[in-house]
Amino acid sequence: MIPVPEKRIAEFENRAFGMFIHWGLYSSLRQGEWTLNIHKIPENKYRECFNNFTAEDFDADKIVSLAKKAGMKYITLTTRHHDGFSLYDTRGLSNYDVMHTPCKRDLIKEFVDACNKQDMLPMFYHTTLDWIHPDFDKNFDAYLEYLRKSVEILCTHYGKIGGLWFDGNWSKRGADWKLDELYGMIHRLQPDAMIINNTGLSEQGKTGHPEIDSVTFEQGQATPMNREGMPKYVTAEMCQTMNRHWGIAEYDIDYKSPRQMIERLTHARKVGANYLLNIGLDAQGGITKMSEALLETIGIWTNMAKESLYEGKPCELICSHQKDFVLKKGKDYFVYVHDLNLLGPKDVVAAYKSTTEGHCIKGITGKVKSMKWVDNNEELLFTQKEDILSYRAVGFYYGRHYIVRIAKIEIEENE
Ligand code: GLC
Repeated sequence: MIPVPEKRIAEFENRAFGMFIHWGLYSSLRQGEWTLNIHKIPENKYRECFNNFTAEDFDADKIVSLAKKAGMKYITLTTRHHDGFSLYDTRGLSNYDVMHTPCKRDLIKEFVDACNKQDMLPMFYHTTLDWIHPDFDKNFDAYLEYLRKSVEILCTHYGKIGGLWFDGNWSKRGADWKLDELYGMIHRLQPDAMIINNTGLSEQGKTGHPEIDSVTFEQGQATPMNREGMPKYVTAEMCQTMNRHWGIAEYDIDYKSPRQMIERLTHARKVGANYLLNIGLDAQGGITKMSEALLETIGIWTNMAKESLYEGKPCELICSHQKDFVLKKGKDYFVYVHDLNLLGPKDVVAAYKSTTEGHCIKGITGKVKSMKWVDNNEELLFTQKEDILSYRAVGFYYGRHYIVRIAKIEIEENE
């Protein structure tokens, strides 16, 4: 038996595409979020970042609008990263928070308010690993108490939140993290919140504590989940950076192309997983030009794909071309067709791959009424024989190229 997802998990899964944001004191140094640890930044230098943190460029409304444009339906923001600094008002729990910097604004409140205004789901990333809290190594139980209190603040002062995204348990794999207490508290205070705990680069897709609602595939490729016999339906999420770092890194120019990101997103949907795409904000919270441009570009695709991208579910149909797959929504099927050419005279356009013909799908039982490209409503030529649907997948007409093209397949009503 495959368990039915709880409503909150089903809703999260239908959000499909989220924005991950890494931002903190490390952003001022512009060399990645691990800089304090890896580059062994002296305490006084890191203190300068704290003393100069104004967040003057942080415009939460603008970030939410950009996420919307990109077709993202939730945002997961680092409320505290491994350097221990909190972007929220810890209400006396710690002096190492935003209220003790010149900024003196609760940035998490600004973030949540902006999300609520624009119907965006706010999620909180929170580290469990802490490089600077003395108790992390010396008195782990006391540290866990501090961690619980920190999370309690996030669960009580910001209204309804989408969920908690923990990261860092991989730093002490054998330890007793007292997860029952932490997760139990979240469950009590925020019954609809998703609880996610990143299993890290080396344990992608691994299930964990019974309260965990989604597995993670950090920087990976989501794989289908075998939910047979699971005590509850657990969903999946794959998170990825646009370049190589999560926090801003000025000299990391290894950006993925819109093709790479869109194909990761479609691959995630193929197996029913969400795709959480990261941007690193600038020192004082501004959005970089590159993130903005890439997200707006991806938004052109998600806007085209929206009819099936969010609520379309993986199905068993088999496609002739390896990267292609079909999602099902209600009675309709949507085939995601990859690697089509840009059409045009041979002397003008370079072919991407040599073949655009000979596509088919195996396993459709109903009689197909119509098949249309969703980007221009054009009908496709098709024939149906037994359970094989063959169709002519033309490429993109000169002047446009969507990378992954989607055709909607409608089945006769009385089937
Ligand atoms: C890793 C890193 C961290 C990043 C996270 C995002 O665990 O330690 O810097 O926040 O992945 O998935």
